[in-house]
Amino acid sequence: MVTAVAQRLASQRKEIDDTLAAFALSPTQLQEVKAKMRVELERGLKKDSHPTASVKMLPTYVYRTPDGTERGKYLALDLGGTNFRVLVVKIRTGMRNSVRMYNKIYAIPLEIMQGTGEELFDHIVQCISDFLDYMGMKNTRLPLGFTFSFPCNQTDLVCWTKGFKATECEGYDVVDMLREAIKRRNEFDLDIVAIVNDTVGTMMTCAYEDPKCQIGLIAGTGSNVCYMEEMKNIEFVEGDEGQMCVNTEWGGFGANDNIEDIRTRYDREVDGGSLNPGKQRFEKMTSGMYLGEIVRRILIDLTKHGLLFRGRITERLKTKGIFETKFLSQIESDRLALLQVRSILQHLGLDSTCDDSIIVKEVCGAVSRRAAQLCGAGMAAVVDKIRENRGLDNLEITVGVDGTLYKLHPHFSTILKDTVRELAPNCKVDFILSEDGSGKGAALITAVIDKYLYAMRFSDETLRDIMARFRREMENGLGRDTNPTATVKMLPTFVRSIPDGSEKGDFIALDLGGSNFRILRVKVSHEKKQTVQMESQIYETPEDIIHGSGSRLFDHVAECLGDFMEKQKIKDKKLPIGFTFSFPCAHTKLDEAVLLTWTKRFKASGVEGMDVVKLLNKAIKKRGDYDADIMAVVNDTVGTMMTCGFDDQRCEVGIIIGTGTNACYMEELRHIDLVEGDEGRMCINTEWGAFGDDGTLEDIRTEFDREIDRGSPNPGKQLFEKMVSGMYMGELVRLILVKMAKEGLLFEGRITPELLTKGKIETKHVSAIEKSKEGLTKAEEILTRLGVEPSEDDCIAVQHVCAIVSFRSANLIAATLGAILTRLKDNKNTPRLRTTVGIDGSLYKMHPQYARRLHKTVRRLVPESDVRFLLSESGSGKGAAMVTAWASRLADQTRQIHRNFMLSSHSYP
Ligand code: BG6
Ligand code: BG6
Ligand code: GLC
Ligand code: GLC
Repeated sequence: MVTAVAQRLASQRKEIDDTLAAFALSPTQLQEVKAKMRVELERGLKKDSHPTASVKMLPTYVYRTPDGTERGKYLALDLGGTNFRVLVVKIRTGMRNSVRMYNKIYAIPLEIMQGTGEELFDHIVQCISDFLDYMGMKNTRLPLGFTFSFPCNQTDLVCWTKGFKATECEGYDVVDMLREAIKRRNEFDLDIVAIVNDTVGTMMTCAYEDPKCQIGLIAGTGSNVCYMEEMKNIEFVEGDEGQMCVNTEWGGFGANDNIEDIRTRYDREVDGGSLNPGKQRFEKMTSGMYLGEIVRRILIDLTKHGLLFRGRITERLKTKGIFETKFLSQIESDRLALLQVRSILQHLGLDSTCDDSIIVKEVCGAVSRRAAQLCGAGMAAVVDKIRENRGLDNLEITVGVDGTLYKLHPHFSTILKDTVRELAPNCKVDFILSEDGSGKGAALITAVIDKYLYAMRFSDETLRDIMARFRREMENGLGRDTNPTATVKMLPTFVRSIPDGSEKGDFIALDLGGSNFRILRVKVSHEKKQTVQMESQIYETPEDIIHGSGSRLFDHVAECLGDFMEKQKIKDKKLPIGFTFSFPCAHTKLDEAVLLTWTKRFKASGVEGMDVVKLLNKAIKKRGDYDADIMAVVNDTVGTMMTCGFDDQRCEVGIIIGTGTNACYMEELRHIDLVEGDEGRMCINTEWGAFGDDGTLEDIRTEFDREIDRGSPNPGKQLFEKMVSGMYMGELVRLILVKMAKEGLLFEGRITPELLTKGKIETKHVSAIEKSKEGLTKAEEILTRLGVEPSEDDCIAVQHVCAIVSFRSANLIAATLGAILTRLKDNKNTPRLRTTVGIDGSLYKMHPQYARRLHKTVRRLVPESDVRFLLSESGSGKGAAMVTAWASRLADQTRQIHRNFMLSSHSYP
């Protein structure tokens, strides 16, 4: 009897041992796994074998780990592990522990994980929106680092792994999908700067603490490794210099049947019942999502054979997923008494005896041990490869690790480390745990890319400060005593009102100083309603004329005017002329304008300090083929305000955001010390482009702004203009790209002669790159023309650079405009300002996002205002004609008064 029981127990024991034996890997088997993994790593790196390799070896375009100089405030998303997290990460330099993080975990319901891609990304964006509300940060456009823990080829999702299976995502660009979802929600803006795998995020997180960290390992829901590979070994990526982080996606190891000898029938069953049968075979043997499932299947088998749970297969035991990693970890804990194990099992609905508990614990142990050993064998292959890459006998290296399996399981990490030590004896491998998750690393990668751009983003507090500075500058310019030394000149224009609807006549307008030189004929008639008819022609102004002598420039203008009059058949007429001259001029009356200094591209000699009306009249007289009557000279801002004022009487500000930038507005005469009189208003041409020329903006100027200034025709002048306007923006972007490429952050460090050539990136390119739909394609086209072969990540980074530069411009203009608006509000002594701002200029008109950004920021900075932004569709010529109409009427009246006076003097001899 005793023998029979003993025999039965022995045979049961044998059956259990036999079942678990398949999970015990011998040292030789582990060596083989290491060797096969090594082969797959190599195959994944080679051009020919890469497409079919089971270990995908995806390039990440992360060229270096953080060096401690990163800083800034970033948003991070962490999607694909157990938790979906949204974080804000603040990195400060110069201090230990200088990273602060706030995060919130959001649930992703199963039906969304496995619904449509659009639903998934809408859900993500909804979570971001909630988080931004919670943090009070909806108005701050933050750069975003996205940890997306799935295999991606650059930014295209290759395939879902683990528990995700949303449709219409595989093969799609994840950044695009996120961007589209942000657009659909239309509540906030983000710059998606970097998308990284969780292994990469983990490596970066740990490398911030330990510069020796060059490997990232995740042993969690999924299993994966990344490491710093030599560029020359990554055959399908151009360039041989330096290193790049490669995301191995080793979870796919085994897809070519090369580890069938160690896969058990349980592994095959788990695979068959998974979301992605046939894929991620190694992951399914090693990661948290599957270990419990393997255990459950073994338990069912043992129960079937009467070896467990008294042979009863309960519904609970049949339930997929009841065995989570955390239970596995608890059951295997040495600190737990058998009774406690039993109570866990009972909690899981598995009615067990103490013997059952022992067996279950053994099963868990066998499955998790194999998982740890397999990861160890894989890791041994990776470290040995790195050692050989560097031609070293011995390698010291650190692995940054994350994942619930590694963190929670009582033995996983020890077995893993032991295996690595045995299989890679020449490598001293340290493992450090990523305490902060991979979001910090994603933010650090964003910060690496963002290093040079950090200084270009301003908080609203800074913008308000700049607004206050500009308010002071305006006051200085208006004051009699302070004006002589003021940098913002606040020039009286002698324009006293906007059009009142009574203007009429036939005029010629010259429009010189923007990107085009235009001559127009403007006919304003007054039947029933005031109507304007315009005809115009653009004339070239060649560089040699712009930079030649003043007389040549005005001869050219007079010649073009002659041509225009000839074509209009009005050479015999003496039509009144309005001259939009888009440079700073001192007026004492409308038809006298002394050029104070050239700005933008112009540099013709002998004009500064002269009255341009006289110069033009002289040139016309010299020709002698027609006569002209220049009635008014206006700045383009004034022309623009008047053009817009024609349609909207409330218009009292004109701004230009084009080649240059400037603004004018209607000021109370009593505040203009330099002009006699206290009644009414006069338009002031602020010439805000010169803001900062006395050093007021030094704290916000960057090395790139200084470089732009040094290379400009007027160093030290127009410093504000050089930070914001179209003439400089493309060049600013180019200088930043060169710097980033030199740092290896872009184009794999390649710099071409074209990229080094001044002016090769124009503001119109910036506008094209920032288009939301075809922007990335445009970036690729433009960069390819510059001889660099950009990766998709390069294009994203370049788009980000453009966005930062143009956003800074819109922000700065919002601040100076804000100052004008608050001044208008104070002048009117009203609690709420209702006004219209007339705007023109190619940057404002052509850039896809500029206008929206500017309007939004102005409304934020001056909340007590209702501002209508009115685009001047027809340029400043129409406005110049309006001023001319007014000037001619005044001249007529003067003539009339004069005549009357003469007549009356005659009648009284
Ligand atoms: C987290 C990281 O700590 O670990 C994630 O922040 C990562 O990016 C995860 O995906 C992996 O572990 P698990 O167990 O959550 O899959
Ligand atoms: C034009 C105006 O529409 O815009 C010009 O008619 C002005 O007077 C110009 O100078 C400003 O924009 P840009 O981009 O040409 O400098
Ligand atoms: C899966 C994913 C991989 C990720 C890993 C860990 O293997 O494919 O990209 O790194 O899980 O989360
Ligand atoms: C420059 C000029 C200014 C002009 C502006 C926009 O800043 O100095 O007069 O209004 O460009 O064209």
